[in-house]
Amino acid sequence: MKLGFIGTGKIASSIILGIFKSKLKVSQVYISSRNRNIAKKLSQKFKKIKIIKDNQEIINKASHVILSVTPEVGKKILPKLNFKNKKIISLISTIRINQLKQLCRSSSVAKAIPLPPIENRLGPIVICPANKAAKNIFKYLGEVVEVSNEKFSYRFWSAAALMATYYEMLNTTTNYLTTKGVNNTKATKYVGKLFLALTKDALLKQRSFKQLVVESQTPNGINMQVLKELKKGKFFNKLKKSLKNINKRLSK
Ligand SMILES: NC(=O)c1ccc[n+]([C@@H]2O[C@H](COP(=O)([O-])OP(=O)(O)OC[C@H]3O[C@@H](n4cnc5c(N)ncnc54)[C@H](OP(=O)(O)O)[C@@H]3O)[C@@H](O)[C@H]2O)c1
Repeated sequence: MKLGFIGTGKIASSIILGIFKSKLKVSQVYISSRNRNIAKKLSQKFKKIKIIKDNQEIINKASHVILSVTPEVGKKILPKLNFKNKKIISLISTIRINQLKQLCRSSSVAKAIPLPPIENRLGPIVICPANKAAKNIFKYLGEVVEVSNEKFSYRFWSAAALMATYYEMLNTTTNYLTTKGVNNTKATKYVGKLFLALTKDALLKQRSFKQLVVESQTPNGINMQVLKELKKGKFFNKLKKSLKNINKRLSK
């Protein structure tokens, strides 16, 4: 398998780092010279990586082409490229499959939603529609979730859009501990391990999150207090509203 990346940014870099920790058999990875620094670092780290300036040349050499540019760049550059019969996997969130097919003048297009933990072969990866070529790559890098309906896949994008908010919750909690005198390394480790344990335990026990919300509260205990205070401040209503807003934005 010869992979070609159009755009070597944050997510392309995470995927490539994941690939070289995995058992996926790649003979060559062609990456775009943009971003220059990321491309340089990756090519210095892995012998199988070759930096190519010209996007068309990347496509010509690759068997699978991964579109990892922003939507604005994608709309500008894709119509000028000839994808021939290459397998195209787009990571671009806001360009729909039909539009991608038109822009690339190809019917062989699937979308995927990898997230940065893919670098450590962690996390779910949504593929839409079910696509053998995409699955044969991403099954080595995390847990593949195939979704046949594109509109339906936006619901998963909405959940994935909580990444920064999730980290902000961990960050706020860590900062609170450090302002109260806990050493920063200890605070970071404690908070990280705490949230990891809660999620892992829930999945291992196959308990619903709803059940766990109930079971985690002692009557008039500290968990109950925090939950009550946040509910009073409409924290969860606002969260739900944001999820809806993302779904609306993607469905436009
Ligand atoms: N980050 C995530 O967690 C994530 C997850 C899933 C999907 N996505 C999607 O993946 C896409 C990329 O996201 P990202 O976070 O990786 O963005 P990013 O870090 O900004 O990467 C985009 C890359 O495209 C390069 N580029 C710009 N013009 C180009 C051109 N003409 N030819 C080739 N490459 C060009 C940029 O290079 P320069 O820096 O030189 O301009 C940059 O390295 C987006 O559509 C995003 O929605 C991202």
